[in-house]
Amino acid sequence: MSGHNVWTHKGTFLLAAVGSAVGLGNLWRFPYLTGENGGGAFILVYALTIFAVGIPILIAEIMLGRTSRQSPIMGMRHLTKTHQTSRAWETIGWLGAASAFLILSFYSVVAGWSLHYTWQMLSGSLAGADAETINAGFSHLLASPGLMTLYHTLFIALSALIVGLGIHKGIEAGLRIIMPALFVILLVVLGYSVVNGDIGAAARFLFTFNIADLSLEGWLQAMGQSFFTLSLGMGAIMAYGAYMSSDASLTRTALSVAFVDTAVALVAGLAIFALVFGAGLETGQGPGLMFVTLPMAFAEMPFGALVGGVFFILVLGAALSSSISLIEPVAAFLVERFDLTRPQAVTIMVIASWTLGLLTVVSFNVWAEGTIFHALFGRSAFEFIELLTNIFMPLGGLLIALFAGWALTQSEVAKELGGHDTWFRVWRFLVRFIAPAAVAFVFLRTLPQVEGYWIPAIGAVVIVGAFAAGRTFMANSARP
Ligand code: PHE
Repeated sequence: MSGHNVWTHKGTFLLAAVGSAVGLGNLWRFPYLTGENGGGAFILVYALTIFAVGIPILIAEIMLGRTSRQSPIMGMRHLTKTHQTSRAWETIGWLGAASAFLILSFYSVVAGWSLHYTWQMLSGSLAGADAETINAGFSHLLASPGLMTLYHTLFIALSALIVGLGIHKGIEAGLRIIMPALFVILLVVLGYSVVNGDIGAAARFLFTFNIADLSLEGWLQAMGQSFFTLSLGMGAIMAYGAYMSSDASLTRTALSVAFVDTAVALVAGLAIFALVFGAGLETGQGPGLMFVTLPMAFAEMPFGALVGGVFFILVLGAALSSSISLIEPVAAFLVERFDLTRPQAVTIMVIASWTLGLLTVVSFNVWAEGTIFHALFGRSAFEFIELLTNIFMPLGGLLIALFAGWALTQSEVAKELGGHDTWFRVWRFLVRFIAPAAVAFVFLRTLPQVEGYWIPAIGAVVIVGAFAAGRTFMANSARP
């Protein structure tokens, strides 16, 4: 590879990784999962997983990117050579690329809903609206494939534009504007919720717990959420890590990412629940918490339409800074492997993912039932894609932990990690034993609950197939 790219500043990686981590996962998914799973108990499990499993894997994933200095697929290939381990580990790269592609397809559709709500709020059409109107509004959006496709297209095109401009002029420049704005807006929304909502009730809901409230399903969701929210196992962090400065501390950076990400989720949760409780509404509305319950709360509060509009801009910005990190690993691979220009690579990735996203769009209306996905997997296309990613993410994380802890030359790993020998041992114990055990636990408990054993079977076939195809392809077109 000719002279690799590096971020402009030592601290840019942190900015980019926080941009990737903070997203719909924090503002939309975390509050509704917490609401559905009884509050504090869910948060306890989530926090424990972040700490014992998430952070060690985060460190490992950044390390893989930084030592290989290439996109996840090529980078893994490079590491298996330099560390003389099995080529099979390259699966990590392929799995990451596949997950990024799948996640982007539905992430962009949901982000598109926020675009709709930003517009609805700021144009004042939801100000003072009653619950029925707001409910009907969301149903109307979900029932319109055309409208959803329009927003999906706008959102993904904007993400593509940023990544297409390159890591300096696009990603870095974009994040320098988006990220500070997000933190300011978050604080404004928090302040507004303290004044107009019931922050005490929100705090009680989030921070008091009875572990018995948590169902088995809730435990599993808490673990899944900790992977999703830290952007783990998808190549995003590895791709950004490839541009990280060699003298930034891996451990300190990973701790900061996890800290900021968790803090944003908690603050967003506090603000949202304060508004919801203040308006006397229910917390267990599932995915509709942000798109139906919250607009109802805003509708009856002073300047609700304006603050609501600003809130949805926050959601949009956070989603944008995450979606670009889903495009980067695949685009960087296409550039490295096929000598494409960056705009060409981004276009290919985004058009493919956009097309797949249409399946998510129709899953809420014309294909809501009776499709081949329902017949085979008992769920809609969107739910099937989401399930696949829920399998791929922890699987990717598991492989990363095993690869870093067992396959890599450990003296090199210790050097890369820096710091005290004791810390290296602690970290290695976590990636060697604790993280794999936790992920295995998730799999053993969830997979049998999934309707039909089809899904694990298909998952395995996809993984092996992607790997075999990739391998043959590479071997046949080997370059000097
Ligand atoms: N972490 C992002 C969020 O919380 C989602 C994401 C996952 C982004 C994987 C990139 C890679 O919204």
